Amino acid sequence: MTYAAITGWGKCLPPAKLTNADLATFLETDDEWIVSRTGIRERRISHVPLTQLSYVAASRALACAGLDAKDVDLVILGTCSEDEQVPNSASGVQNLLGATNAAAMDVNTACTSFLYALTTATAMIRTGVVRNAVVVGVEVLTPFLDWTDRATAVLFGDGAAAVVLQATEEKTGLLAEKLGCYADVRSILRVRGMGAAYANQGIAVGTTTWNFEGPEIFKRAVLGMAEASAEALRRAGLGVPDVDLVVPHQANLRIIEAVGKRVGAPPEKVFLTVQRYGNMSSGTVPVALVEAIEEGRVQPGSRILAPAFGGGLTYCAHLIQWGSRTTPLGTTDVRLPPCNKTGLELVQDILAAKRDAKSPASSGNLVA
Ligand SMILES: CC(C)(COP(=O)(O)OP(=O)(O)OC[C@H]1O[C@@H](n2cnc3c(N)ncnc32)[C@H](O)[C@@H]1OP(=O)(O)O)[C@@H](O)C(=O)NCCC(=O)NCCS
Repeated sequence: MTYAAITGWGKCLPPAKLTNADLATFLETDDEWIVSRTGIRERRISHVPLTQLSYVAASRALACAGLDAKDVDLVILGTCSEDEQVPNSASGVQNLLGATNAAAMDVNTACTSFLYALTTATAMIRTGVVRNAVVVGVEVLTPFLDWTDRATAVLFGDGAAAVVLQATEEKTGLLAEKLGCYADVRSILRVRGMGAAYANQGIAVGTTTWNFEGPEIFKRAVLGMAEASAEALRRAGLGVPDVDLVVPHQANLRIIEAVGKRVGAPPEKVFLTVQRYGNMSSGTVPVALVEAIEEGRVQPGSRILAPAFGGGLTYCAHLIQWGSRTTPLGTTDVRLPPCNKTGLELVQDILAAKRDAKSPASSGNLVA
């Protein structure tokens, strides 16, 4: 049987940080509220487009795998904040990489997009459609945040990470997963202003308002991640004691703690990044995975459980069996251009650009 081994990994975090104290300079909020409700202390603001963050992360992953870009058959990008709808963002990353023999596709399931893309690429490798794939989880959501809304603006940040998948006969890579979606409550997390429903209505691109029922999302997130984790383990014929590390989606520390309790995973097995980066949506799980490897939390043969949820409301859990290598085969000089602004200055630029734009709150031709 063919499996899809993870042979390379790399991340790219934009350097500009936005702290809770920075947010309190223009929103009625404070560090105590944000930390006690979410665990978040700071997040990153990108000074470059999503394609560029992805390119750096993917280049690092390819160098780590020792794989030439020409040998990549598929570039797949999990994201809901594409630079453009046409052409897709994966083609932009393919172009920058020089992966001239690859197919390129975007997958959008909001915060679960990286994991859904991992499933897609793994399935394509298992069925022989491709042999080598680059899977990117990336988000540059900060241009789409409503920076006047303290309930949502404090939660998100930008970031990217990528893995390389390669066909193997060894039983490594994705062992089992469970994917699902609570479509009946899809409207409890809706970004008004992103998408064709808002076209031709005089709304400046990027001007958004968020329908965001925090407590209801919280409950569904815990339920979905816990139940998907149990099902993924059942499908693999394994139990929680067989899991070495949990790398969950990091929207909120309290959600992660509740999922850990429900699943029965002790806190020391749960890897956290939420304090440093906030919720990077689709970038969250792969960045956490890369940092777990870098910090020695992933060992040869480790079993990793990655539960996640996002808009839709999509949810999932993935069980990954690590291979024998936890060190990169190579490195690359590819890096981001320097950033000469602080996170707060970058947000002030976004705020200034949006100031006179029309609100999409009551606009948009939407189905339920
Ligand atoms: C958003 C979330 C942190 C809010 O926490 P909560 O404990 O549910 O807080 P509530 O929404 O009940 O709000 C409580 C109060 O804090 C206020 N508040 C909201 N944001 C605030 C902020 N940034 N600073 C200070 N006060 C804030 C609210 O206005 C409310 O005030 P009120 O009681 O006077 O009306 C939490 O619900 C959550 O994390 N939900 C999951 C959402 C998520 O992660 N989504 C990501 C999708 S991938």
